Amino acid sequence: MESHVDKDFKGRQTKDGIRIHERSDFAGMHEAGALAARILDDIADLVFVGQTTGAIDKKIEELVEEAGATSATIGYKGYKHASCISVNHVVCHGIPGDKTLKDGDILNIDVTVIVDGWFGDTSRMYVAGRLPRKAERLIQVTHDALMRGIEAVKPGNTFGDIGFAIQSFVESHRMSVVRDFCGHGLGQVFHAPPNVLHYGRRGTGATLEEGMFFTIEPMVNLGRPETKTLADDWTAVTRDKSLSAQFEHSIGVTADGAEIFTLSPGGKFHPTFG
Ligand code: MF3
Ligand code: CO
Ligand code: CO
Repeated sequence: MESHVDKDFKGRQTKDGIRIHERSDFAGMHEAGALAARILDDIADLVFVGQTTGAIDKKIEELVEEAGATSATIGYKGYKHASCISVNHVVCHGIPGDKTLKDGDILNIDVTVIVDGWFGDTSRMYVAGRLPRKAERLIQVTHDALMRGIEAVKPGNTFGDIGFAIQSFVESHRMSVVRDFCGHGLGQVFHAPPNVLHYGRRGTGATLEEGMFFTIEPMVNLGRPETKTLADDWTAVTRDKSLSAQFEHSIGVTADGAEIFTLSPGGKFHPTFG
């Protein structure tokens, strides 16, 4: 994600160009985050063997429209869909289409909506048919890695503390963290400073402050961390064809921790264990 400091910005921001939001801004983020999460709840039953990823995306587009919201991804840098759907060894930015899901496929569905000018960005994992044991382990570790990252969020900690929490946990399970994509600041924009790395060293990077809004969205591979982008210029896959998983929340830093904007209203964030 590109990162630049907006020189014309009027409100408060850090020297790294990270916007510090007001308490009153949290409400808008909760509205947007809740819609994105509710849409991911509502399409869960559409993930089954024989289904196409294009049909799931069409339903997501309809749900965004029915809610009177706007898709942040349709028209973003030429992207044409309301979601990214990344199956098996696709790391992220999978393009929905005619491909049908097979028994044992795992997929990440990533939705970003705009509600009253605020962005809600979240993704989670789904399974078609029976979940293979090694995929189950990957999904569990990736989910728990995101949660470890969120637990590291509080004023005075650094972005490096978040990356360290995620990387050390993932590598303790002999899996790898993708380096080529990161989380990002968001709010009244889709992608803003900082780049939120999912690896790093304790105490490095910018210091967290109350009022920062950003995503944490670790991508974890069963094999090596390297990725490559396919000829469509979007689809990122693992170079070694190993299985990859991702979970994403949008969060805000509070006085003593974090608020998650994209909590699942139905408690369906985690695909298998609640
Ligand atoms: N939602 C993705 C993210 O987490 C970005 C998708 S951009 C798209 O940042 F154009 F590929 F949809
Ligand atoms: Co994101
Ligand atoms: Co996303």
